[in-house]
Amino acid sequence: MDGGIAAVALGGAGLLAGSLTATFGRSKKPAATTAPSAAPAPATGSGGTKVSVAASAVPVGGSAPVKDPSSGDTVYILQPKAGQYCGLSSVCTHSGCAVDAPKGGQLYCPCHGSRFDASTGAVINGPATKPLPKYTVTKDGDRLDLGPLA
Ligand code: FES
Repeated sequence: MDGGIAAVALGGAGLLAGSLTATFGRSKKPAATTAPSAAPAPATGSGGTKVSVAASAVPVGGSAPVKDPSSGDTVYILQPKAGQYCGLSSVCTHSGCAVDAPKGGQLYCPCHGSRFDASTGAVINGPATKPLPKYTVTKDGDRLDLGPLA
């Protein structure tokens, strides 16, 4: 029981530190992790930091999450058709909730139920009215490089 209370107390301190960070400004340092990542990774994300993933991590119909180094937001790198790659932001265009990982060709937002096409980011059903922001992704050998917003 005491361990549980201590964990809650530590968790509260973490939340406090997080809210102080939010109050006094967001850190501009690039994301330390771009998992999953392949080495070496010379691609450039929209913020100038290199972000890539092993091509084998994104089979046809599959996806892999990376972080946009400029925003820290999760971006799903997808291969909707053989040899066609793109990146879709995980930030719902309705009110900013994080959409679930692509499944069955769609991305679902658990907040209010919007669905987006996993090959284009287009809205399948609302309340969202705008598509998910789309990133360019280029294949370089066995690596997929996240590019800027398309
Ligand atoms: Fe995604 Fe409302 S925030 S549907």
